[in-house]
Amino acid sequence: MSFDLNRYLSERRGLVEAELASLSRLPALVHGSAGQVPKTLADAMNYSLLAGGKRLRPILAMAGCEALGQKPERALKFGCAVEMIHTYSLIHDDLPAMDNDDFRRGRPTNHKVYGEAMAILAGDALLTDAFALAAQSDAPAEVLVELLRELSYSAGSPGMVGGQVVDVEATGKPVDLALLKGLHAMKTGALFDVSLRGGARLGGAAVEELAAIRTYAQALGLAFQIVDDVLDVTQDLAQLGKDPGSDKEAGKTTYVDLLGVEGAMTQARQVMDEGIAALAPFGAHAEPLRALGNYTVDRKN
Ligand code: IPE
Ligand code: IPE
Ligand code: MG
Ligand code: MG
Ligand code: MG
Repeated sequence: MSFDLNRYLSERRGLVEAELASLSRLPALVHGSAGQVPKTLADAMNYSLLAGGKRLRPILAMAGCEALGQKPERALKFGCAVEMIHTYSLIHDDLPAMDNDDFRRGRPTNHKVYGEAMAILAGDALLTDAFALAAQSDAPAEVLVELLRELSYSAGSPGMVGGQVVDVEATGKPVDLALLKGLHAMKTGALFDVSLRGGARLGGAAVEELAAIRTYAQALGLAFQIVDDVLDVTQDLAQLGKDPGSDKEAGKTTYVDLLGVEGAMTQARQVMDEGIAALAPFGAHAEPLRALGNYTVDRKN
């Protein structure tokens, strides 16, 4: 029987939503006391974190763990930590100083509701608290230290933040395919890479297995952002849950500018097929990852 992706996604999303909804208890869980989280801050964090979204990063972390034949729940906290970092990156990405967007996850953007200062601080808090959650993963200390190091690397200056900087500096300037590919790998690929490798690490992956997962992850990150560029011009606000046409308005060069919609989609498909081929050593355990790779290319939001 073929793999039922819709059912898989809805089950996994259920796990993620339940875990994220319990995070208001995070200070108590981590520090042994509820602490003093100002209500406005908690509201602003939850406004974006609990607004839905595809939850692809935590789902990939769990699927990475499953590829090693382990239970997905092992990677749930780590995956949700990446989702918190991803959510912070979206809040900041939407700010007037960056992409200046009004809608995200089907709602007005964080700064439209809470103001710029609170949106910046909600992002800061999601980023910082994410490390406390990731550190709660049930793993030997040496695995945990490596996970946290990789999380910091992927989210930080050599990863997502660095990619956002390249994106900002390239805005309004001529951009070729090589620069765009590198930019996408950093701003988007790095968080997919750490989700998948973190999940695989929590599943007990050996060095060669982590390398195979990385090949798949890099392909997925690139294919994902190529399709994001395409959806920006082919879909509407209701379908996307975020402002379409944002790239052109902001003066960004995208895969669509360089290859056209069809050329960009052909490229995404080819990149993803190569990534999926790297999963051969995992056999049937990697069926969810294969289906998630195809979904990344075929999705409509
Ligand atoms: C949007 O990511 C930002 C990019 C990296 C292109 P997603 O498309 O995964 O956003 P959500 O999490 O579903 O809202
Ligand atoms: C943003 O890329 C990637 C992040 C690190 C947030 P985009 O600017 O293309 O993301 P969207 O289209 O606003 O979701
Ligand atoms: Mg952006
Ligand atoms: Mg944006
Ligand atoms: Mg985009």
